[in-house]
Order: sequence, then structure tokens, then C-alpha cells
Amino acid sequence: MPEPQPAPGTAPAPTSTPGDAPADLPVDAPFVEAAGLTRQWNGAGGVADVSLAIPRGGFVSILGPSGCGKSTLLRLLAGLETPQAGSIRIDGRDMTHAPAAARGLSMVFQSYALFPHLSVAENILFGMRVRRAPRAERAARLAEAVAMLGLEGLERRRPAELSGGQRQRVALARAVVSGHPLCLMDEPLSNLDAKLRHSVRRDIKALQRRLGLTVVYVTHDQTEAMSLSDIVVLMRAGRVEQIAPPAALYAAPVSIFAAEFVGEPPMAMVQGAALGMPGRVVGIRPEKLRLAAPGAGDLTGRVVDVEFLGAGSRVVIEHAAARGLVASVAGAAGLAPGTEIGLCLPEDDRVLFDALTGRAERGPQQDRGAQDRQTGPRDGRKAPSPQPPEPQQSNL
Ligand SMILES: Nc1ncnc2c1ncn2[C@@H]1O[C@H](COP(=O)(O)OP(=O)(O)OP(=O)(O)O)[C@@H](O)[C@H]1O
Ligand SMILES: [Mg+2]
Repeated sequence: MPEPQPAPGTAPAPTSTPGDAPADLPVDAPFVEAAGLTRQWNGAGGVADVSLAIPRGGFVSILGPSGCGKSTLLRLLAGLETPQAGSIRIDGRDMTHAPAAARGLSMVFQSYALFPHLSVAENILFGMRVRRAPRAERAARLAEAVAMLGLEGLERRRPAELSGGQRQRVALARAVVSGHPLCLMDEPLSNLDAKLRHSVRRDIKALQRRLGLTVVYVTHDQTEAMSLSDIVVLMRAGRVEQIAPPAALYAAPVSIFAAEFVGEPPMAMVQGAALGMPGRVVGIRPEKLRLAAPGAGDLTGRVVDVEFLGAGSRVVIEHAAARGLVASVAGAAGLAPGTEIGLCLPEDDRVLFDALTGRAERGPQQDRGAQDRQTGPRDGRKAPSPQPPEPQQSNL
């Protein structure tokens, strides 16, 4: 049981907020805006120069591998960490240096922070009690949250008498009843089993829609980010790699890193030289890769494995100039491992990357709007390290 941290959402709602008052705030102005946020330790780790804008009522995921700075970014937004540079505006007010309790937000932590001496019901209602909400309203909100998160019958228990998953649901329920318009969640489902994770995920989304909450949701699980969010902020080594709606992130990744982080299985990468495009890396999604007779098509590979998934199969293929080659096909593929197979990479479905910088050159059906919404590294910033495919390190 971690030290109980009174979550920001448990503090009384402020009557006045620090910072300048919003003057003539446009209706479509971002609800949360971070500009050039930096927080590092001895010049390393954390986040550097992160900028993002979150619309009111939006569901935004912060996605990226372990250690890329997701929790640091969330803690900066929450006021639990102080930036060394940059600014944070919430609902039009400068909150860069405002205390957590003044930011009007609730938070659900990776490690549930509950008060061990309080019952489930008291933990859930703590914030409302501090705000002196009427008894009837408290009872109604409690009943609603308890039912929503499947905590019926546990109201009188202490956190020590709950499983990890139950504690996490109490933490979610507490955020739900806090009534704050902004909810920050740091891997809130990591302690739940797969089935519960799916159902609580749907509950969070339904709740967010119903209450019009603005949610910032940290996860390293791309499926979770893609299925829940309006916008995904993909991070890499403390910086923003790409900001885009899930469909645009999937169809038009700005880099090899983004292409390989998103999608299950991820985009395959082929050395351009094998396709008559030296200096490039060609990406292809599994559902776009077509199988043909050996010798036909653009490449000839070898079947390594066939995974039957019921409605379809995944054919895992190896080729000396490629990594991650997988074809999604309907039904049972009827291919034995070791079989030679032709591969077609339709031109319109290829995503082209510069082999040296790893940045995308052009993608399939890239709509202008999606590109405009994406935030790549700014001019002058150091290009990411090159990531040409290395077949000898192929994960096939
Ligand atoms: N208080 C701290 N002191 C020193 N380094 C820190 C501190 N907090 C975070 N870091 C470093 O900053 C980097 C980002 O950490 P952060 O917790 O934000 O990552 P994360 O993306 O949330 O990872 P995970 O998915 O594992 O939770 C890591 O390298 C971490 O070691
Ligand atoms: Mg984290």
C-alpha cells in the first residue's frame, strides 16, 4: 500500500484561481495547453520541450515506451512536478506555478493512492465531503460510482481488505465523483485482469462522454490509446514524436518509430533498395500486404509461421531485406512454414521513410488536415537517429 497522497481532486474547489483571468476566451480554445514544457534531472530523463493542446471534452492519450516521460508530463500538468521551462494553461488561465489543488482536476495514479484508515465509501466521497456537498448528492454519486465500477458490497471495507484491482476501481470511483472537469489518469487499468480492463475501459469512455470530462490518459499500450482516444500524443525519449487522431497516426506515421509503435502487429519495414528505391525504407501494414505465387509480386519471401485467429490468419514471412513482415489474410491461410511466397506491396499503400533520418516522406491517403495536426520536431531540432531496417536483428 503506497503512502496515501491526497489526490489533487480531493482538495476543495478553489473559489478564485491564480493566474490571469481568461479574457474573451474563444469557445474552441484549448482546455489544456502546454508550451515548451521541460523537466529533467541532471539534464536527462523526464521531458524536454513538450507542447500540446487538448480540446475541452477531449480524450487524449499520452502513449510511449517505458521511461519516455509519460508520467513526468502528467505530473507536470497535475502540479505535482515543477517545470524548468515552459508554461501550462488550463481553461485559459496560467497554471504553470499553481498548486495542484488549485488546478480543478482529479487524478488516478498508476499506484492507487487511497487513505488506508478510511472505508471504500469514505475514500470515494472524500473530496465531496471536503467540499461540503449535500448528503443526498453524496449518496447519489456514491451509488452511481459504486455501481459503475462494480464495487457493490465493498463500501464498508478498508483498502487493505481489497484486491489490487478493487483498489484501482475505488481510485477511479473517487475521480468520477470529484466533479472536476479535467481528469488525469496514469495507467489506471494496469492492475486489472484483461476482462476487467476491457469493461472498465468502456466505462471510463462512456463516463467521459456523459460528463463531458476532459481526460488525459497515460498508457504504454497502443491498443488502449488507439481505441479510447480522440487524439494520441506519441512520445519518445522525453519528446513528442507525433500528435494525431488514432486513424491518422495509423495511416500516416511521421517516422519509423511511430509506424512500428502503433498497430498490432506493427508496420513491416522493407529496405528500399530491394524495391528499387535506394535511400528509403518502405513501410507496409499487414492488411495491405498481398500474397502471390513465388516469383510474382515485388518480393519473394518465405513463410515462417501461420497464426490462425479464427476469422483470419496472420502469415509471418521472412525476407533478408525486411523486418516484421506479416500478412493478415481471411480464413485459414493453408500455407506451410518454409513455403516460398510472392509478396505484393501496392504502391498506394506504401509509406516511405528516409533511410537516414527515419522520417516519413509521404504516406498513403495522407489528408492535409491530419498532417497539419501532427506535431513533428521543429526546424533546427536534432533529427532522430537513423533506423534503417537491420535484417540481421529481425524479430521475425
Ligand atoms: N524524480 C526523478 N529523478 C530522476 N529521474 C527521474 C525522476 N522521475 C523520472 N525520472 C526519469 O525520467 C524518465 C521518464 O520517467 P517517467 O516516469 O516519466 O516515464 P514513463 O514514460 O512514465 O515510464 P513508465 O511507462 O515506465 O511508467 C525516466 O528515465 C526516469 O528514470
Ligand atoms: Mg509512468
